[in-house]
Parts: sequence; C-alpha cells; structure tokens
Amino acid sequence: MAKFENMLVALLICALIPNITHVDANFSKSMYLTWGAQHASILGEDLHLVLDRTSGSAAQSKRSFLFGSTEMLIKLIPGNSAGTVTAFYLSSTGSQHDEIDFEFLGNTTGQPYIVNTNIYTRGKGSREQRFFLWFDPTADFHNYTIHWNPTEIVWFVDSLPIRVFRNYENEGIAYPNKQGMRVHTSLWNADNWATRGGHVKTNWKGAPFKASFYHFRARACKWNGAVSINQCASNIPANWWNSPVHKQLNHAQMRLLNWVRKNFMIYDYCTDAKRFNGHIPPECFKTQF
Ligand SMILES: *[C@@H]1O[C@H](CO)[C@@H](O)[C@H](O)[C@H]1NC(C)=O
Ligand SMILES: *[C@@H]1O[C@H](CO)[C@@H](O)[C@H](O)[C@H]1NC(C)=O
Ligand SMILES: *[C@@H]1O[C@H](CO)[C@@H](O)[C@H](O)[C@H]1NC(C)=O
Repeated sequence: MAKFENMLVALLICALIPNITHVDANFSKSMYLTWGAQHASILGEDLHLVLDRTSGSAAQSKRSFLFGSTEMLIKLIPGNSAGTVTAFYLSSTGSQHDEIDFEFLGNTTGQPYIVNTNIYTRGKGSREQRFFLWFDPTADFHNYTIHWNPTEIVWFVDSLPIRVFRNYENEGIAYPNKQGMRVHTSLWNADNWATRGGHVKTNWKGAPFKASFYHFRARACKWNGAVSINQCASNIPANWWNSPVHKQLNHAQMRLLNWVRKNFMIYDYCTDAKRFNGHIPPECFKTQF
C-alpha cells in the first residue's frame, strides 16, 4: 500500500512540474535564420551574422519563453563598425509587445562601442540606459545574459549586473509577465541614428561586417500559452529563477552595479526630464535594485 502511495505521489509530482526547458541548446538546435540567410550562418554552437550593402541578417529562437535566463557569448565587429547595430534581445509580438534589449552600437576604429539597454512593457519603451564597456568587446567573446523572473529583470555583462528593472506592477507600472518572448539576434545598418546621432555613416569599404555569437543557452520556462503564466511563476524547486537569491541582487552585486553606473553609464532615461516634458516615468522614483 505504502509503495502504491509513493508511486502516486511521484506521479502527482511529475504532473505538477511544468515542462521546463534546460535547453542544452546549441544554435543549430534552437534557433533559425529569419533574414539574410544567404550570407549569415548557423553551425552547431556558432552563429555568424553578416551585414553588407545588400542586407543585414537575423536569427530567432524556435520557441518562446516566460522567465528564466538567456545567455550568449558575443564578439562584436572589429575595426570600423560605425553605423552598425548588433542586437541580442527577447521579444513578443503585437502592439502590446514586451521586449528586453541589449543593442551594441558600433564606432570608428579605436573608439568605444556603446551598449544600449531598453525595455518595452505592453508596447511602451523609451527606457534606455547606455553604457561604455570596461573591455574591448571586439577582441574576444563576452557573456551577455538576461535574467528574468516575476520580481525583476537583470542585464548582466560577464556576470556583472549593469541594470535592474523591478516589478512595481501593484503601483500601476506594467511588467512583462503575461506573455512569452522569443530570443532574437540581429545585425543591421542604422547609420541614420546610431553613431553620434547619425553624423557618422557606415563605411561600406569595410563590408562585409561580421558579428559572432557562441554558446547560446536558454535555461528558461517554456511558453505554452496562458497556462504557462502560473506554471512559470510558481515556486516549485525546478523553477530556479524564482528562488530567493534571484529576487534581489546581493550586496556584492549591488556594489558592482553601482560601480558600473558610476564609471560607465553615459545615458539614463530617468535623468532626462526634458525628453519627458518634466514627467519622468514613475519607476524612476523607486528603488532600482
Ligand atoms: C547541436 O545539437 C544537436 C541536437 O542536440 C546535435 O545533434 C548536434 O550534434 C549538435 N551540434 C554541435 C556542433 O554540437
Ligand atoms: C554568463 O553569465 C551568467 C550570469 O552571471 C551566468 O549564469 C553564466 O554561467 C555565464 N556563462 C558563462 C558561459 O560564463
Ligand atoms: C564613439 O566614440 C565617440 C568618441 O569617443 C563617443 O563620443 C561616442 O559615444 C561613441 N559611440 C557611438 C555609438 O557613437
């Protein structure tokens, strides 16, 4: 009898644990090219995006996720990359879409790349924070990771938190927690705005431009429609992204975040009162981490 009960309990537990993806993914298994496939490539753990005069390129994940961690090692375009933008982001679709962005704005040879971060909730963005990096992102692969759970979103560069967006939904500030997002990467020409406000144009003599991506991992909750909202937000042990350590940065991480903000942040929408006609968005008055 006890044996039978144990079995029943085991069965019940199995039925309760949602379909978690620990995508042991390489690019070829989990992503596909959506644009510029004639010159971009996916091979095992590697993704190469290419931009030339004819087109840029892009790839996206086959499935959507709700909460978890998405990481990629990226090596940006060397030399004169002014006018180009390389991106790694999560996004849903539609007019009420959510989006979490890492965008890398190229520069002329020897000048620093800018990392632009942004977040859209229910279709509304305009929340940029921009940073210089403390290393040359074109010399080597570096780890860019987005952590996302019901409490907060954290952007990491080589495990240093550079930005946090906390959930203040109960105070009327929208938070992305009701729809799955796919993982996207892209490389395109944005010389109408990217480098010094569009004053520096892409130098096509340097084309084709190549950005390399490696080791894509989505340790995240599979989105299977509305039923996923409760499953992915529940506190069952398999949902590691909901564990207490991921609800708030620890003190060491807060110190690192402050170090990054103090030394490398070059733009913060929260201090741009002019842009918002004096009406700075409400989350800016909350604790940011
Ligand atoms: C990528 O993953 C697929 C599916 O797991 C596997 O068949 C393939 O061998 C992997 N390729 C590389 C280069 O690791
Ligand atoms: C990348 O950074 C994330 C966040 O700190 C970490 O969990 C992950 O293990 C790192 N991946 C690699 C390959 O270093
Ligand atoms: C490029 O370098 C210049 C000079 O250091 C800097 O002002 C600018 O912010 C950099 N980035 C872009 C995308 O223009």
